[in-house]
Amino acid sequence: MTEDKTPDDKTQPSRHALADEQFGSTAAAYVTSMVHASGADLDHIAERAREAKPRHALDLGTGGGHAAYAAAPRATRVTACDLSPRMLDVVAAEAARRGIANIAVEAAPAEALPFANGSFDFLTCRFSTHHWRAAEVGLREARRVLAAGSPALFIDVIAPADPAADTHLQAVELLRDLSHVRDYSARQWLAMLGSAGFSVTRMTTARLRMDFAEWTGRMRTSPDRAAAIRALQSAASSDVAAHFEIEPDGSFTIDTVLIEAI
Ligand SMILES: C[S@@+](CC[C@H](N)C(=O)[O-])C[C@H]1O[C@@H](n2cnc3c(N)ncnc32)[C@H](O)[C@@H]1O
Repeated sequence: MTEDKTPDDKTQPSRHALADEQFGSTAAAYVTSMVHASGADLDHIAERAREAKPRHALDLGTGGGHAAYAAAPRATRVTACDLSPRMLDVVAAEAARRGIANIAVEAAPAEALPFANGSFDFLTCRFSTHHWRAAEVGLREARRVLAAGSPALFIDVIAPADPAADTHLQAVELLRDLSHVRDYSARQWLAMLGSAGFSVTRMTTARLRMDFAEWTGRMRTSPDRAAAIRALQSAASSDVAAHFEIEPDGSFTIDTVLIEAI
């Protein structure tokens, strides 16, 4: 794993360590989470894999492995890669439980992938990039390890264009999960993918409801930080509250994007 502390940074956990601690300790919850285990985007990945018939697919930031499970039936091999070794232990066990024999796991940060140039001919990356310490570096790595002309599917939460709604989203995300880095806007996604060398062929947005108790429970958000999120929600302006469709129990709805690129 790459070192991501500054030389004088001896006391604070590194950003990769924060993500590993946050996800490793709650790995099993990501296999069963309905927000992650279901969705039209998984059907889309399965459909694209059916068309592409990959020899070797990469699922970057695999989490509970759902994109890898979707691609596996149509791929010769799938590598499920994640920063968190404990997350990968759960994926290996779940793949075995499902009788999927062509998924291998590899622990690595997206920003420093241990794969040769052009190793893969299909790439998925779902709800992970907003956790990366350096998204642009990770996307360049994704491009490097993908053979020219191969399809890539990126799915993530996106920030609204409205600055106040954007700030609200980043604030509640960070309170919920200290490893949160940034939900990028659709415009930022397009710019990052372009500078990484991808050509975007299709982009679709959707809305996804977050149940407050599940959303905070999955990340084991402490009661004081959950209360701070609720305070921010209560004080939100009417347009921010309307954008996120904030409900009385704190549940709310976010924007997501599915970007197809080659
Ligand atoms: C929300 S989960 C991903 C969900 C999963 N892809 C799915 O389809 O259900 C986010 C994952 O990103 C991983 N992650 C965070 N930072 C990372 C990084 N820099 N490189 C690779 N993986 C990272 C975390 O360990 C975690 O497993």
